[in-house]
Amino acid sequence: MGSRIGGMGGSVMLLLVAQLWVGLVAVCEGQGLVPGVMIFGDSVVDVGNNNNRLTLVKANFPPYGRDFANHIPTGRFCNGKLATDFTVENLGFTSYPPAYLSEQATGKNLLSGANFASGASGYLDSTSTLYGAISLNQQLRNYKDYQSKVEKVAGRANATALFTGSIYVVSAGASDFVQNYYINPVVNRAYTPDRFADLVVQNFNTFIEGLYNLGARRIGVTSLPPLGCLPVAITLFGGGSSDCITRLNNDAIVFNKKLNTAGQTLRKSHPRLKLVVFDIYNPLLDLIRHPENNGFFEARKACCGTGTIETSLLCNTGSPGTCANATGYVFWDSVHPTEAANQLLSDALLTQGIDLIS
Ligand SMILES: *[C@@H]1O[C@H](CO)[C@@H](O)[C@H](O)[C@H]1NC(C)=O
Ligand SMILES: *[C@@H]1O[C@H](CO)[C@@H](O)[C@H](O)[C@H]1NC(C)=O
Repeated sequence: MGSRIGGMGGSVMLLLVAQLWVGLVAVCEGQGLVPGVMIFGDSVVDVGNNNNRLTLVKANFPPYGRDFANHIPTGRFCNGKLATDFTVENLGFTSYPPAYLSEQATGKNLLSGANFASGASGYLDSTSTLYGAISLNQQLRNYKDYQSKVEKVAGRANATALFTGSIYVVSAGASDFVQNYYINPVVNRAYTPDRFADLVVQNFNTFIEGLYNLGARRIGVTSLPPLGCLPVAITLFGGGSSDCITRLNNDAIVFNKKLNTAGQTLRKSHPRLKLVVFDIYNPLLDLIRHPENNGFFEARKACCGTGTIETSLLCNTGSPGTCANATGYVFWDSVHPTEAANQLLSDALLTQGIDLIS
């Protein structure tokens, strides 16, 4: 692990240690750094909300989860933990926010947050509809429903403290591009990438306003990853080359700029809102360009199957070629990072998200 942490700047590391120390003291006194974590978005953060839905976008079967606790395929699109699982651990929690649509999401289990995310969901309702995913608008309605349940369990005052103090993580946008814009000729013809990014950001704004109106005051939003380096993108749009696709990466850069600008505007209009746009583009690109600097050896091919196309139902125990040990791989399937890469990403979330816990 030493080499993986080594990349972090010394002063940042010191600051982190100081922050974590304060946090650990708080945790020892019986409280987390924050009262809860609420999670919204797509397959990067879904922990099983799609399991019982009529959708092809699922991950509740092996080899998904083979490195998770008790080797359980919970519905996480990963061999093990998601970046947000590590974040939740770093914040001092001993369990993860349950998938809101699972049987675990009841009674006291609701009192340190919940997870509303759904694989293949996007900022656009149309993206979610294409795949039978839970749209972000529906996730917001589910969150409202969650709030009234919590009020019944914990009382109004305690519930309000939870809603106001919790960290809200939002991970979306990649599906709008990869599973909608790039493959849907109707949308593709109607918008330039720049105009499409505007449309997605407009929906992002609406979603954040909705969260804010329901009491959220600490929101962390992930940027787009380098879309052109996802193994599935290289396979589908790379024309036989194995290099990252510059055009797609540029689209992500343009979108991320607009997302940051939108974040600034939201902060200005809501002085009591803490909102951080997490840059996951650069940490992931760095990992993909220089896997060996971080203890990885494979950043092109994913572990599951041929590593070029398989995800969801196509990544299963019958997929030939699945690697024996995913530790040195950046990608678990053709879209999603491995647990090892997620751990690295969570370090980035932690350093960038300090404002949210102060
Ligand atoms: C609210 O929280 C306090 C402190 O944790 C607890 O003692 C109290 O029972 C809670 N109220 C309700 C209605 O559960
Ligand atoms: C995978 O490899 C890593 C490092 O080489 C090792 O620590 C780990 O135990 C291995 N995992 C399994 C499941 O074999």
